[in-house]
Amino acid sequence: MIRVGVIGAGFVGGALVNLLQDPSRQIALVDAATGELELVGVVVRDVAKPRVGIDPGLLRDNVESLLDEGVDVLVEVAGGVEPTRHYLELALRRGVSVVTANKALMAECGTYLAALAHENGADLFYEAAVGGAIPILRALRTSLAGERILRVMGIVNGTTNFILTKMTEHHATYLDALAEAQALGYAEADPSADVEAYDAAAKVQVLSSLAFGTPLVGEEISREGITAIRSIDVAFARRAGYVIKLLGVAERVGEHGVSRRAHPAMIPLSHPLAAVHGAMNAVFVEGEKSGPLMWLGPGAGGVPTATAVLGDLLDAARNRVSKRHDVPFSVDDRLFAVDEGDVTSVFYVSVDVLDRPGVLAAVASVFGRHGVSIQSMEQSGVHDEARLSFLTHHARNRDVRATIDELATLESVDSIGACLRVIDGGN
Ligand code: NDP
Ligand code: HSE
Repeated sequence: MIRVGVIGAGFVGGALVNLLQDPSRQIALVDAATGELELVGVVVRDVAKPRVGIDPGLLRDNVESLLDEGVDVLVEVAGGVEPTRHYLELALRRGVSVVTANKALMAECGTYLAALAHENGADLFYEAAVGGAIPILRALRTSLAGERILRVMGIVNGTTNFILTKMTEHHATYLDALAEAQALGYAEADPSADVEAYDAAAKVQVLSSLAFGTPLVGEEISREGITAIRSIDVAFARRAGYVIKLLGVAERVGEHGVSRRAHPAMIPLSHPLAAVHGAMNAVFVEGEKSGPLMWLGPGAGGVPTATAVLGDLLDAARNRVSKRHDVPFSVDDRLFAVDEGDVTSVFYVSVDVLDRPGVLAAVASVFGRHGVSIQSMEQSGVHDEARLSFLTHHARNRDVRATIDELATLESVDSIGACLRVIDGGN
């Protein structure tokens, strides 16, 4: 008998409890390797709140007392860094294995928690932390453990992909699309984690730790959200043969460097990631010998995510029975973070300008002064709506940022719109 405790009965926790209690799944959940799973209790903030499909007798308001009842595996689907970190420490110090879907927590202190788990002979599994139902972390940790990964690039946030898809294909407004994503259970408790790319950045850190051995120690990485993207950028992208997606990227630079970043980008319609719509996620991995690989699936939503949590739970349960535990990180490449200012890309820059002679020349000369070469330019709108949209040649991030800073000071520039990287054959 494997005794299971859960913290959280929201979108993911509620779906997990329903899966655990579904009589038609009992045969799959109980096998010779795992024995029987017994749900001991579910900790929530408000035990008085009615919960569909959860016996009120299972609800608890204290993690420590739940652990005192005797728990072999603790599942954390509550979210947030504190007090969650404290709860997981309590469990791991007692040798209780932990399954979590919490990427914010893993990015903040995953290395420490993994060491604590190992010292105490426990498992720490977190498959649902990246890509919802997609089994990408296990693939990196085990199947690709011997491969030299060159790049991991993905659509790793369902909420923003849902919003951008709604804006692109259904002409929805940003706010309407966000409200729908929240109602469907895709968004974080504070949706700025999604739209400002904190969530995607945390997932990039987790992916990078498995692909490149970088530590999970609460480091900030380069991050840009989607709030500056307007429907005119979406329309420009479409005319030019691209679609805008929020990407998470971790890539090897030279022999010992790694670039880790989360930002919106224009992706050619012919790229496999361009066809990933709604709350679907996809992770594209380029291995030195394996070549390109891609995983696709529901990246957010309570029920799909709960399947990944359940897989981890069964893995931890089997390990309990066989008295072993897994080592959560498999590679230790010791790559160092490169200066993101030096990383190059093609860029799209949109600038709202005054509609009068000489403005184009003034704006173009700023690009030239910073060594940013223009590939093409489109002028649209007139009078108050006048806008210049540029595609650059490959340029350094630092030089494009300096261009934008100087453009913002020009008397003929009303405002700077979006500045997006453009994925081409070379990046
Ligand atoms: P919800 O906000 O829907 O649910 C959170 C649950 O945790 C609630 O039941 C809440 O209790 C409980 N809770 C929160 N804080 C505490 C606390 N301090 N002590 C006890 N219970 C607490 O979140 P989700 O289910 O959407 O997400 C849960 C986790 O899963 C997060 O880490 C999220 O990032 C991750 N995740 C979510 C995905 C999704 O699509 N939703 C996908 C992948 C990962 P109460 O109900 O009483 O308020
Ligand atoms: N808020 C997250 C997303 C949940 O939208 O992708 C899945 O991690």
